[in-house]
Amino acid sequence: MTTGLPDSTIGQPILEAHQLTKRYRLGATSVEALRGVSLSVRAGEFVALMGPSGSGKSTLLHLLGGLDRPTSGEVILDGETVSRLSDDRATRLRREKTGFVFQFFNLIPLLDVRENIALPFTIAGQDPRSGEPAARIREVIELVDLAGKERHRPDQLSAGEQQRVAVARALVTRPALLLADEPTGNLDYTTGGEILHALWRSCVERGQTIILVTHDAKAAAYADRVCVVQDGRILEEIELGRREDHAATPLITRLAQLGL
Ligand SMILES: Nc1ncnc2c1ncn2[C@@H]1O[C@H](COP(=O)(O)OP(=O)(O)O)[C@@H](O)[C@H]1O
Ligand SMILES: [Mg+2]
Repeated sequence: MTTGLPDSTIGQPILEAHQLTKRYRLGATSVEALRGVSLSVRAGEFVALMGPSGSGKSTLLHLLGGLDRPTSGEVILDGETVSRLSDDRATRLRREKTGFVFQFFNLIPLLDVRENIALPFTIAGQDPRSGEPAARIREVIELVDLAGKERHRPDQLSAGEQQRVAVARALVTRPALLLADEPTGNLDYTTGGEILHALWRSCVERGQTIILVTHDAKAAAYADRVCVVQDGRILEEIELGRREDHAATPLITRLAQLGL
């Protein structure tokens, strides 16, 4: 059975990380969270960072998205060296070029679905009720399949719907890079599948570049490529290619062959 899709939408490198290290100081001791990670991600690619708890995945994601700085090494996002920018410029770059989705949805309880999704525009001082922002909001609401629920507040939504609002909010600015840290970690299997499907759709239909952090091979199997993270390093890169069935067996087999 062939389920391969043409990956002609995948383009030039949009993100490059060179020899990243990160050391956290804890009083007199320190933790080496990353020990020299290099990574290149092409525009339109869906990459999973997979590894056990404590392996350094979140640290790496935060450095790639400019939420934190490496101890050494460089991150270049869309031509800009994120790791060398001032705090102000790093914040601006992050707002303009990245979207984040976390394990906990981080929605604003008093705002409805549409208002939560509109937040990036509101924060930037743009009116989300008309013009381009309004069109983009409608578009992402369709993408994550929440049409009809625009006026619901988070407490009137299921966990899966809440996370889909968070995905829509991260996508509404059309970021060069979407970063998701265990976005299904707080959800049951079926609901997790809805979120992964929404990420996958954004990749296939909009050419969205995605980096997904997960400890779960079934989630990682949605990606075009899986980087196996262990002890602060990328141990192995597994090219899965773009597959419509998202079957985890090829990945699990490959991991077993590698003794992982
Ligand atoms: N802010 C921090 N201060 C100190 N140590 C940290 C901090 N964040 C992460 N660590 C440590 O760095 C290592 C990697 O953590 P993390 O990147 O969160 O891993 P993962 O996301 O794969 O579970 C762990 O040993 C963790 O305890
Ligand atoms: Mg983590």
